[in-house]
Amino acid sequence: MTFLYFNRPSKRNAMSPQLHYEMDDALGWLAHDDETKVLILTGKGESFCAGQDLKLYFRQNFDDPVEWARSQAAANAWRWHKISGFPKPTIAMVNGYCFGGAFTPVCACDIAICADEATFGLSEVNWGVIPGGIVSWNIAQLLNHRDAMFYAMTGLPFDGKKAAEMKLVNYSVPLAGLREETTRIANILLEKNPYALRYTKEAVRHVRGMEHDQAYNFLAAKLQALQHVDKEKGMEKGLSSFLDEKKHKPGFGTFDR
Ligand code: COA
Repeated sequence: MTFLYFNRPSKRNAMSPQLHYEMDDALGWLAHDDETKVLILTGKGESFCAGQDLKLYFRQNFDDPVEWARSQAAANAWRWHKISGFPKPTIAMVNGYCFGGAFTPVCACDIAICADEATFGLSEVNWGVIPGGIVSWNIAQLLNHRDAMFYAMTGLPFDGKKAAEMKLVNYSVPLAGLREETTRIANILLEKNPYALRYTKEAVRHVRGMEHDQAYNFLAAKLQALQHVDKEKGMEKGLSSFLDEKKHKPGFGTFDR
């Protein structure tokens, strides 16, 4: 498994243009790195990410439309497209402050686990803007309408337990056990056939918003495509392990690859 860090701890890991460019490069590279089988996104130090750097991303760019457009494009590319389309499983491990623009990569990850003690907030309204980038879209998709409106409009912070209750993350655990729990889940994913995993995440992600017939056809094509790309011949082996060798019960876990 590979850990990818927000790494500006003295600035609570706020996202500067440089951080966006580096994340964009790193994700492009990691997508094709054979050693990276599961990606865990987290923050160095005590914060996950305090959102956009209000000085370097916003104020410094006010008079420089070209740099502004460049950094916006990189910010959107890595936080949404590169993470949501990452060909391997992604887990957000939210270890501390998570504000504003940091919601996007959390929502883009396949799985999110946070510390009970983490502090989340849609703080944009508190300094006079909207949850921009793509944050309003993220919360409209993932949260229920009442929660999205309440936290976007009041700007009130909430803790990790509340984030779990609202299903912004899968669940929360005490900070002391966060890394252990996240690696436990990553290890479960590492046991699986990586082709089946990739197609599973693409299937679940892309059927959202499809009509029944469209989804049915898409999934049928996807299943066929998986048989072609799967170099491990996972389905044959999985079936044989259960039906012929009687070595494992798929209901309880993966067969021994
Ligand atoms: N942009 C730029 N700098 C930031 C930042 C941000 N989003 N968040 C923190 N920093 C900087 C602070 O300016 C400070 O820098 P300095 O040491 O040079 O003065 C340093 O990080 C430490 O921050 P500080 O506010 O002293 O830490 P704290 O633990 O008391 O509070 C926060 C942490 C995150 C609650 C607080 O910094 C904050 O409210 N940040 C803004 C959150 C936000 O609205 N983000 C934008 C969402 S799009």
